[in-house]
Amino acid sequence: EEVSEEEPSVDALPNIPLFSDLPREAFIELFERCPLRRFSQAQRVFEQGSRGDAFYVICEGSVRVFRQEGAQRKEIATLGSGAFFGEMALLSGSPRMAAVESASEDTQLLEISAPVLSELSLRYPQVARALRKFCRDRLLSNVMG
Ligand code: CMP
Repeated sequence: EEVSEEEPSVDALPNIPLFSDLPREAFIELFERCPLRRFSQAQRVFEQGSRGDAFYVICEGSVRVFRQEGAQRKEIATLGSGAFFGEMALLSGSPRMAAVESASEDTQLLEISAPVLSELSLRYPQVARALRKFCRDRLLSNVMG
């Protein structure tokens, strides 16, 4: 049986519920088009208040989400492999509502830019729907405390 070059790395990925409906070809294409960024323990992915032009899928490791509220710095979530973040600024055009940093020694994040997301959403509206739902739920959970 013939094995193609890129398949082993794609097969090594965690289950990513956001992309579970994508045909395998679309999934592989996405991983070929988007950069994989690596972060060490405690390294910042982005700051709260910064401009958001991409969102991230956790392929390996984990991240912590921190929100500065006045003088208080609150940890609002830990996200592990298969999860995603950074969708809120991307969908709303607002600044990043929280800071995100790596919580593992080798965190690997697939960085999906706004234009790639737009194209993906046109072809697979369920991806956009899922992102909007997470965005709403996270916003509510932050407002409700
Ligand atoms: P964004 O505002 O672009 O940048 C910070 C990200 O943290 C945000 O998008 C969400 O992806 C994520 N985030 C915000 N609130 C929560 C939450 N309550 N639980 C998990 N992730 C969150």
